[in-house]
Amino acid sequence: MRQWKSNFQKAGACAGFLVSGVYSLIAVAAITFYTARLIFCIDASPMSDRNFDGIAQRFQRNIYGNPKGQLRLAICRRELEEKLPALFGGEPVSIWDAGGGLGQMAEVFLEQGHRLELNDISQEMLDLAGERLSSYCRSGQLSLSHAPIQGMAAQGQFQLVICHAVLEWVADMEQVLRHLAAGIKEGGHLSLMFYNLNALVLGNMIKGNLYKLRDEDFAGHPGGLTPPSPRRPQDVEAALSAVGLEVVSRRGVRISHDLMSRQLRRERSVDDMLEIDWQYGAQEPFWALGRYVHLLCRHKRGAV
Ligand SMILES: C[S@@+](CC[C@H](N)C(=O)[O-])C[C@H]1O[C@@H](n2cnc3c(N)ncnc32)[C@H](O)[C@@H]1O
Repeated sequence: MRQWKSNFQKAGACAGFLVSGVYSLIAVAAITFYTARLIFCIDASPMSDRNFDGIAQRFQRNIYGNPKGQLRLAICRRELEEKLPALFGGEPVSIWDAGGGLGQMAEVFLEQGHRLELNDISQEMLDLAGERLSSYCRSGQLSLSHAPIQGMAAQGQFQLVICHAVLEWVADMEQVLRHLAAGIKEGGHLSLMFYNLNALVLGNMIKGNLYKLRDEDFAGHPGGLTPPSPRRPQDVEAALSAVGLEVVSRRGVRISHDLMSRQLRRERSVDDMLEIDWQYGAQEPFWALGRYVHLLCRHKRGAV
């Protein structure tokens, strides 16, 4: 019995030693990594941001080939036309479409005669944008850059910075917002649209997905079109304020469509859903319930 007890104690001590060894190794690796980041200014985030290579065609088909994309584009266009009328029919200005993908939003402003810079980390998305908008590329009105938002040197150059449906695909939202804010000219604006966590909570309640709600398990499958990091509007607003931006208008995007059953969506027209979303989309509490939220922002007074 005594022999058995002493063997047991030895095994316990051995296991404890091994576990503490593994913990020490992890701690050393973490300290080395973060020290290297600090010393060499290594920015880890762009590597883990979601590159759309491999899903570009699917994105084009599933989002812009159906009411989801049509509603989102139409609402954003209408919002910008109402809030920034000088960009529709006025003098040409420089605009940056950050993470601009296939270039649907850029096209709205190219048609108005503005100069556009569109960057994306996905070469496939850029190739498709280049094909669709080839005449603007040839004339020099549109320039495409294969680069992350965090790698663009855009110091106060742009009258309008657009960043739609990107924030939910990046690892470090604050870092991206800092780069976007730096690109805005004095008196210019940021048009920011992001995938809204509130709408996911509501949608899962409607579907009765109670375990998903309990576990707050909202990230999509890796490799799919459901974003990994849906954002809370209040978190985004706090991060905007921290980089010196104030929100001048708020609007929910895709509200009624996403609350309806699939059957009802098929029976209602896109135009009717668009009108209802437009009517309610800027009111409390509906702006914060859209599948996406659009925030129009500008630098706080005095801070550029
Ligand atoms: C959902 S798509 C949105 C595209 C476009 N803005 C739109 O509204 O249709 C997200 C895009 O962000 C790009 N992306 C993700 N992280 C990025 C980053 N750090 N810098 C630039 N583009 C990024 C992806 O490659 C993808 O093309």
